[in-house]
Amino acid sequence: MMRLNRNLVRSRTCQTVLVFDTFKKLTPDLMHQFAYKNGSLHCENVDLAAIAATYGTPTFVYSRNTILADLDELQRAFAELDAHIAYAIKACSNGAILQLMAKRGVGFDIVSGGELWRIIRAGGDPSACTYAGVAKTEEEIRYALECGIYCFICESEDELRAINRIASDAGKQAPVAVRVNPNVDAHTHKYITTGTNENKFGVDISRIEQLYATIAAEMPRLRIRGLQMHIGSQLTEVQPFVTAVQKVTPLASQLKELYGIEFLSIGGGIGIVYDGCLASGNLDWWKEHPEQITIASYARALIPLLKPLGLRILLEPGRRLVGNAGVLLTRCIYEKRGESKLFKMIDAGMNDIIRPALYEGYHEIWPVREHNDDSVVVDVVGPICESGDFQAQNRSIPDVKPGELLAELSAGAYGSSMSSTYNSRPLAAEVMVDGDKITLIRRRQTLESMVADEILPTP
Ligand code: LLP
Repeated sequence: MMRLNRNLVRSRTCQTVLVFDTFKKLTPDLMHQFAYKNGSLHCENVDLAAIAATYGTPTFVYSRNTILADLDELQRAFAELDAHIAYAIKACSNGAILQLMAKRGVGFDIVSGGELWRIIRAGGDPSACTYAGVAKTEEEIRYALECGIYCFICESEDELRAINRIASDAGKQAPVAVRVNPNVDAHTHKYITTGTNENKFGVDISRIEQLYATIAAEMPRLRIRGLQMHIGSQLTEVQPFVTAVQKVTPLASQLKELYGIEFLSIGGGIGIVYDGCLASGNLDWWKEHPEQITIASYARALIPLLKPLGLRILLEPGRRLVGNAGVLLTRCIYEKRGESKLFKMIDAGMNDIIRPALYEGYHEIWPVREHNDDSVVVDVVGPICESGDFQAQNRSIPDVKPGELLAELSAGAYGSSMSSTYNSRPLAAEVMVDGDKITLIRRRQTLESMVADEILPTP
């Protein structure tokens, strides 16, 4: 399908920075700071070509000010509640990004001992961490208890009993909440839907009351602190959130009454725009998609439902805070005309961004040098020996030639954090841009460090 706005991308992006303020007011969720200036794609004030020249490709490039603007917008949207952001670090767990969030007073949603360790390393506060996940190990639970996390988000009675026992051994009380599964379809890709009866996550809403009663009666080392829900990721409409919150709030009220819970977490899942407008300056896109979720529409719909609870509200956004703030900078290496297709081969593979292969994810692909020629329909493919190794299929993009740089947009979330060394490809470098300043936040992995933990048996 021909995506929207390729023309607008060409004709309007130079103006994007100039219209930033007005534009941001009109369409707050639209902006990121990747735009063409003087014929070359920039991140804030830095030419992506300069980054490629210094750090090579593939490299993830993050715009610090896009992250901060998104964070600020979300914090302000929920200002009338006692709301706290727990950034879901699985979206992008680079220490520099965690450090940035921690300095802004953000807490964290974690799903492993490793994520907790990363937060502490980056100067984050463990007492601002909620710890979810269906299969926490004994070692992880002990570590989280020692660190003094804010709350375990528990997903089964077995897990609650394990935490109770481990807390008892450690002579501690463990703060807990249960993840309620409200059985609401999030209308997103099946692999990132979590809140229905088909999913492994949480405890069915009909069993929650009984489970809290069991905790109170039989697990003296647990301190009931809250209730949590998370129905899925990349939700592009507000309605499923509304339905789920409507189902869960009466329960939260009841648990407040019975056990004095202090918080309700409504999870993450706010979707971003992957195709269409982005920085193109196409205000019409938003008029044509009134149903598309924005931070403002999300807050407007949920605040009236949440406010009467008088509870602390936790938000666990991942993608919405970093997704549009990052791109993967890559180079076209070859092209090949097949029998039925034109392929552009790039130096980034599904090991760098697995989203197209795993979730049929769509990422816009823009040339770094601005093109005025006609577009061609191509498959953009990587070097991995798998047919699933593509970043775009049957996509109309400018006719970039071997040697040219490309940026794969909206790669800030679930890009580097899901990358691997498959095919023995070292992990990509990561840099953060702040105005005209570039900071290397992850060196490109070397071949030596890639195999550092492998052991060659002595012959
Ligand atoms: N809270 C919990 C309990 C979660 O499981 C998740 C995401 C989040 C918050 C953050 O969700 P977000 O705001 O980022 O939508 N790899 C997939 C997404 C997996 C999401 C897993 N859980 C992707 O690339 O689309």
